[in-house]
Amino acid sequence: MRGGTKVSVETQGVRIVHRVLRRVFRRESRLLMELVAAVRPGDTARAGVLAGHFRLYRLALRRHHQGQDELLWPPLLARVDLEADVVLRMQAQHERVAVTLARLDAAVAAWEAAAGGDERDTVVAALCDHRAVLLEHLDDEEAALLPLAARYLTEREWACLGERLVAGLAGPALFGAVLEEASPAERALVLRGLPAAARVVWYVAGRPRYARHIRRVRG
Ligand SMILES: [Fe+2]
Repeated sequence: MRGGTKVSVETQGVRIVHRVLRRVFRRESRLLMELVAAVRPGDTARAGVLAGHFRLYRLALRRHHQGQDELLWPPLLARVDLEADVVLRMQAQHERVAVTLARLDAAVAAWEAAAGGDERDTVVAALCDHRAVLLEHLDDEEAALLPLAARYLTEREWACLGERLVAGLAGPALFGAVLEEASPAERALVLRGLPAAARVVWYVAGRPRYARHIRRVRG
């Protein structure tokens, strides 16, 4: 079936997964800050678990931004006129987020080694700065950019974004994070979009793995 209705449903699915993913980034950046702040000095085991979780978070956010950098900004800049400043602002915000992530990479590596109290506080401060920049971007993206994308992107471009999005969620930790955040209706739609075999793999192997990961991370 390749009718217009099906394409529209897919487009709707891509938008929903994007929306849920933005909520995941809001949630996980807050939780990371709270969880790292609670680690006792010298608890290297706990620091190692949270450092690993931070790297998954960073991977998901980087993939998400790369997808937007490559698939969203070029077609929009080619079509918008007066609203080009919105797209350029998004690009600049992505660069600012990347700077905060680079600072976090260094801070987390320094903390992970011995789980020192000062190093932990540096990570928490860097997470706080990162979150402020990220939330400003997500709020702006939702208010100013998404209406442009809805107006100017073709169904085919939405489909490309969707493919990139699904590839970026490979692995139970990222996929599980999206399903955890999704409402029951959103969850049903995301799972319906999977091939039947992938759905079985998720229930049998992915979901228990995600549950174990989250129990370790949230303590
Ligand atoms: Fe973005």
